[in-house]
Amino acid sequence: MSKKKVVVLSGAGISAESGLKTFRDSDGLWEGYNIEDVATPRAWRKDPQLVLDFYNYRRKNVLDAQPNAAHFGFAELEKDFEVTIITQNIDDLHERAGSTKVLHLHGEIFKMRSERDIGLVYEIKGDIKIGDRAEDGGQLRPHIVWFEEPVPMIEEAIPIVRQADIFVVVGTSLVVYPAAGLVDYARWDTPKYIIDKRIPYTPELNITAIEKPATEGIKELMSLLGLR
Ligand SMILES: NC(=O)c1ccc[n+]([C@@H]2O[C@H](COP(=O)([O-])OP(=O)(O)OC[C@H]3O[C@@H](n4cnc5c(N)ncnc54)[C@H](O)[C@@H]3O)[C@@H](O)[C@H]2O)c1
Repeated sequence: MSKKKVVVLSGAGISAESGLKTFRDSDGLWEGYNIEDVATPRAWRKDPQLVLDFYNYRRKNVLDAQPNAAHFGFAELEKDFEVTIITQNIDDLHERAGSTKVLHLHGEIFKMRSERDIGLVYEIKGDIKIGDRAEDGGQLRPHIVWFEEPVPMIEEAIPIVRQADIFVVVGTSLVVYPAAGLVDYARWDTPKYIIDKRIPYTPELNITAIEKPATEGIKELMSLLGLR
């Protein structure tokens, strides 16, 4: 018998206990920065050095961070289910915990791309500097979807959510669109769960709330799924 499909929509909250700060838990500042100053196309045009400094620092943080029990728990679900993680996170903690199908809606901190051609993407573990160029001559920038930019991966994510047999939302404030809108694509009769230390508003009524930190919530989810 084929395994049931579990689809997980994760956000910054799942990585909070790994020491990576969420955005909205700190008064609309992300690590002390206004989002408009570091994560928009306008910021890139105005002060690319500041934007590079910000993401070069983020990259170091992520290198130093380790996956936590929630990342490991979702990876472990693969023993019993066919699991796809759709994450808004730019870190690679799901992958390092062992999840094999991870779709990054908002890009990846360990990738960079040409500022001209979205298709010219490269791996990066160190810093990106002004003057580093892609093969088309374009300045290299973080492979991150900034606010006000289109989210091409959403087209891939929607059919995955439609096919979910079980849908789980974890550690996201559900305010950044189009990611937050994915909840609406799950079938009405699909069992849905939301794990968050403070459950955010969702218009979805047929959803089981697990109001706990992600590392605790994953244990409750597993028991609700009959695994422990
Ligand atoms: N680690 C990362 O990659 C990272 C970190 C910060 C922001 N971002 C980006 O910022 C945007 C913000 O959207 P978002 O919804 O992902 O994050 P968000 O900061 O808007 O919301 C975080 C959510 O996580 C919850 N939370 C905090 N600590 C938790 C814990 N220990 N356990 C469970 N839940 C916890 C909060 O209550 C909140 O609902 C996204 O686009 C994302 O790409 C990414």
